[in-house]
Amino acid sequence: MKICVVGAGYVGLVSAAILADWQHNVVCVDHNEQKIEDLLAGKLPIFESGLQELVELNRLGKYLRFTAEMAEALRGCEMIIVAVGTPPAENGHPNLEDFWAVIKSFRENVRNDVIVMIKSTVPVGTGEEVSLYLNEKGSYKFSVVSAPEFLRQGTAVHDFLHPDRLVVGCMSPEIREQMKELFQPLNCPKVFTDWHSAEMIKYASNSFLALKISYINTIANLCEAVGGNIQDVAAAVGLDHRIGQAYLKPGVGFGGSCLAKDTQGLIAQGEVHGVNVWMFKDVLEVNYEQRVHVVQRLTEVLGNLKSRKIAILGLAFKANTDDLRDAPSVTIIAQITKLGGLVKVYDPVVDSSSLPDAISVNTVDNPYTACQGADAVIVLTEWEEFLDLDLKRLQRSMNAPIFIDGRYLFERKRLLEAGFFLPERPSSSEWPVVQSMISAR
Ligand code: UDX
Repeated sequence: MKICVVGAGYVGLVSAAILADWQHNVVCVDHNEQKIEDLLAGKLPIFESGLQELVELNRLGKYLRFTAEMAEALRGCEMIIVAVGTPPAENGHPNLEDFWAVIKSFRENVRNDVIVMIKSTVPVGTGEEVSLYLNEKGSYKFSVVSAPEFLRQGTAVHDFLHPDRLVVGCMSPEIREQMKELFQPLNCPKVFTDWHSAEMIKYASNSFLALKISYINTIANLCEAVGGNIQDVAAAVGLDHRIGQAYLKPGVGFGGSCLAKDTQGLIAQGEVHGVNVWMFKDVLEVNYEQRVHVVQRLTEVLGNLKSRKIAILGLAFKANTDDLRDAPSVTIIAQITKLGGLVKVYDPVVDSSSLPDAISVNTVDNPYTACQGADAVIVLTEWEEFLDLDLKRLQRSMNAPIFIDGRYLFERKRLLEAGFFLPERPSSSEWPVVQSMISAR
């Protein structure tokens, strides 16, 4: 098949590289000329395990090419995949400006019948709207397919190839057969449904994952208050197969480009149609509170944050990605610096230049330097390499041994054995001791 993929982000690049690997003739187009120039020079705009190799291999095999020229890319294509970003707008609805600009360009440039596969996350009803718009003139047939993508950053290639399910929304039996053939290499349950349901499945899935995380964080906060080891609790709750282990990791909550955005999108759609969506508002509220909670704990234990040296380990919104979109680290660092704290950060892959300009931090190239002389250390990304840290060495180099493990990465016992104080449960007997330790150092 001759396929044009519009958008060279996570979803677009991964889809383009894999479809090329399946020996389709793929052109990936993006209006960001710099991005295309980089791709032509062999430089990927994102850090994604296995993707670089896949792109290089298929460019060499000539199944994959990149361009910034939309009209040229669309020429003669049998299928167009739309994978442009739909970032959240102020009102919670996704911003569909880029999306519709792309759809409009199809009407202007396409000169044959074509399948338009929507992979961007779009509000329910968009597939139908796109179909009506593209087929208005009636000169060529645009067959719209809604095929939401569920891949996670960091494991995107693996997730594309081994999804839990494939969801395809389309309205014609003929196109359904073509989709079955296209996705034949995927060995997973395949759900064929209508456009609206396919679009809703994406929102429903992401908001459920968000809900699970906010649920476990609420239980974690209760454990801190009334006692109980949240790691044991989460593991045991997750062993009930009706609940499942996934997305029950407590901590500073979810970040990234999708969970909050899609939950917001669902709220916005509910509000437009007068549906009660309060539970999803709580999911977002709990998630934000997790970030505030870290700063509150720090302020409580240190008295105040003015000129306090705080080490941050991990900036990315999760491990194995260099993405900072909606990362808990950005909110937490902004709050600490606003309160006068001096922040030193270490992250194995994130380039600190991607932090917002308003945030002033000192970035260092190893975790020991970040913690040298610090009054507290906070882990905000679950990078596996942190598990190899010499915790005793880290503890000895600090001004005060306060450790906030925002990802429950370490076993509590290991941190306590290294001599750290974990300010997780306010206890009248422990706090004065640690506070006197801080002032004595
Ligand atoms: C998500 C969806 O999982 C994916 O299906 C969709 O296509 C895009 O959005 P992604 O944003 O890449 O993927 O990240 P994910 O791995 O789902 O994690 C999201 C956030 O939740 C991260 O910040 C992660 O640290 C956090 N998280 C995840 C938890 O705090 N606890 C968990 O148990 C799981």
